[in-house]
Amino acid sequence: MAITKVGVLGCGLMGAGIAQVAAQAGFTTVVREVNQAVLDKGLARINAILEKDVSKGKLSAADRDASVARLHGTTSFDDLADCDLIIEAIVEQLPAKREVFTALDALCPPSTIFVSNTSSLTIMEMAAVTKRPDRFAGLHFFNPVPVMKLVEIVRALTTSDETIAALHEFTRALGKTPIDTSDTTGFIVNRLLVPFLLDAVRLLESGVATREDIDEGMKLGCGHPMGPLTLLDFVGIDTVYSIANIMFDEFREPRFAPPPLLRRMMLAGHFGRKSGQGFYKYE
Ligand code: CAA
Ligand code: NAD
Repeated sequence: MAITKVGVLGCGLMGAGIAQVAAQAGFTTVVREVNQAVLDKGLARINAILEKDVSKGKLSAADRDASVARLHGTTSFDDLADCDLIIEAIVEQLPAKREVFTALDALCPPSTIFVSNTSSLTIMEMAAVTKRPDRFAGLHFFNPVPVMKLVEIVRALTTSDETIAALHEFTRALGKTPIDTSDTTGFIVNRLLVPFLLDAVRLLESGVATREDIDEGMKLGCGHPMGPLTLLDFVGIDTVYSIANIMFDEFREPRFAPPPLLRRMMLAGHFGRKSGQGFYKYE
């Protein structure tokens, strides 16, 4: 199961990061978006990060150019037909994910491995719409992808040992550390992180403290790099709202239920950093 060409679905926060690290690690990479405008925005973000790394002396101009040459953007599924690995990083909604996997299953050869970067959906629900449930798994990256060292490798009931081994090798080739988890909603990290983030919203809602003091408390009191409300803005309120609903549906425990404020922010389009407004305002 040699991987040389990688397809990435979605060039948002996560897809852009995944496409960047795959191209930098030497893989020919094709990233697909829904239209040219969104694609251009995602590719421009990747170029800006690479440019910053060059100006900091972290990356040579030659390596930057080689990475950019390995990275191709497209709005068509056809350009992903000869990929060895397809990594899906579109919106956290099951019908949309099932639709893209159905389309690609008809295009790609049986040998292509499909993975989803989902935060909370069940991998088996996506694998089941394809004819390759043994070559289907979860590959869960963390935000920001170029910085965070972890990847969760999620084994669905049907995933083969060969697929898991190929994903371990791929993760290591990206310079990241894999951990193994079963196909349980939220896997390891979000099972622990999401209730904590939702509790921070509940603290704010109930007037226990200001947003600044909640964030400062966890930064200075527990050494977190970001306070929970800043992290919610960073991950995306729309994404966390979907994750919380999916986790609540699965476990039926109140700690996973999205707090009312999160739902209102979602309805108002206050998606966090990506929309310019969340718990904080961004330029
Ligand atoms: N892309 C690429 N590089 C980035 C970046 C980005 N979006 N953001 C920051 N960086 C780099 C910077 O260039 C900088 O690199 P150097 O040290 O080489 O100069 C480095 O990261 C540190 O950045 P800053 O100095 O600007 O800021 P910082 O020290 O506050 O670090 C941070 C920023 C790495 C994001 C840090 O705040 C952090 O680790 N935050 C927590 C992130 C986290 O918890 N992520 C997990 C979210 S949950 C998830 O992803 C799972 C899910 O399913 C929802
Ligand atoms: P995002 O909203 O930043 O990006 C999603 C992108 O997918 C958009 O640009 C959208 O245009 C695109 N897209 C491509 N094809 C699509 C299609 N057919 N239907 C709908 N949208 C399509 O979201 P994100 O934060 O990058 O999250 C993407 C996935 O990664 C989600 O499953 C999310 O749960 C997961 N994830 C997110 C984080 C995070 O911190 N944000 C961390 C780990 C995993």
